[in-house]
Amino acid sequence: MKKIKISVSKEYEVLIGNKLIDNSGELIRKVCPKSSLAAVISDDNVAPIYMERLTKSLETAGFSVISFVFPHGENSKNAGTYVEILNFLAENRVTRADLLVALGGGVVGDITGFAAATYLRGVKFVQVPTSLLAMVDSSVGGKTAIDLKAGKNLAGAFCQPELVICDLDTLDTLSPAFFTDGCAEVIKYGILADKPLFEHLSSRGQDFDREYVIGRCVELKRDYVTQDEFDTGLRMMLNLGHTVGHAIEKLSSYRISHGYAVAMGMGIVSRASAAKGICTSACAASIEDGLKALDLPVNTAYSASELAGPMLSDKKRAGGTVNLIVPYDIGRCGILPTSVDELEDFVSTGL
Ligand code: GLY
Repeated sequence: MKKIKISVSKEYEVLIGNKLIDNSGELIRKVCPKSSLAAVISDDNVAPIYMERLTKSLETAGFSVISFVFPHGENSKNAGTYVEILNFLAENRVTRADLLVALGGGVVGDITGFAAATYLRGVKFVQVPTSLLAMVDSSVGGKTAIDLKAGKNLAGAFCQPELVICDLDTLDTLSPAFFTDGCAEVIKYGILADKPLFEHLSSRGQDFDREYVIGRCVELKRDYVTQDEFDTGLRMMLNLGHTVGHAIEKLSSYRISHGYAVAMGMGIVSRASAAKGICTSACAASIEDGLKALDLPVNTAYSASELAGPMLSDKKRAGGTVNLIVPYDIGRCGILPTSVDELEDFVSTGL
């Protein structure tokens, strides 16, 4: 088992290994020695597969367990489900001495984290991510949120978990499309800051060494989060491919999922960067090849003018400038402040 320590406003570990769900009670007991009740929050895809094993492990470690299961998917990450979770916790008299456990992918982790941040003004929570995307991105770093009608993740809080338990075996029950979706966030870390990781992924494709790759992604995310826990500067580097990707997700009414859209965004930004002399054509071609090796798309059918509209609502926009993350080379990226008047032209060179 690999252990990665995250030292921000709170210190906690990310554990990565096999068969961890069956030991999770014991692992959680070490960080929550005084809690007596664990409220497990999950969705109707994940709960039928893992809830029983997690519950048994928690009970063996001396926790009483209650569970709340909601319908899977981004459509559930809303104020309605959030309030249902809060009411469930209140009706079951969950106290500040107890803890929440998020069992599932990014939606479960984000909404449970937000409930933990706000219920009784804050209770402890543990992340048990079961998707690739949640393991390498959303479960680490303390961003919690729900979606509003106006857009994704518009209400939330920074709230770090007590522990993150990544059981690699849970990846075996993901659908191929869901696994591929998570691969976009994985290769993003290679392009951003780790050439050997990028080369491993490019040569192995989806048959990559899971413990090494997920461990490296978490270590790299740790480095950004440690330097910028509250997302005021450097952490925006994690947005590589996201400004264009979010526009694609929105234009498709979220039929194109996050990872696929981010992969298209990385392809477009890389080609545009080559066209503008920010990186070489060989670098952009390597990025495309790496994405393709993971069965990810590298372009979109939307036009530059269609993409430019939703890009203006990017959360990281500052006044008349959108900060695009661009590759200089494999493993080295930077911020390109781009005025809103130049956005469409920049994107058009990458299509
Ligand atoms: N998912 C990007 C971040 O945690 O900052």
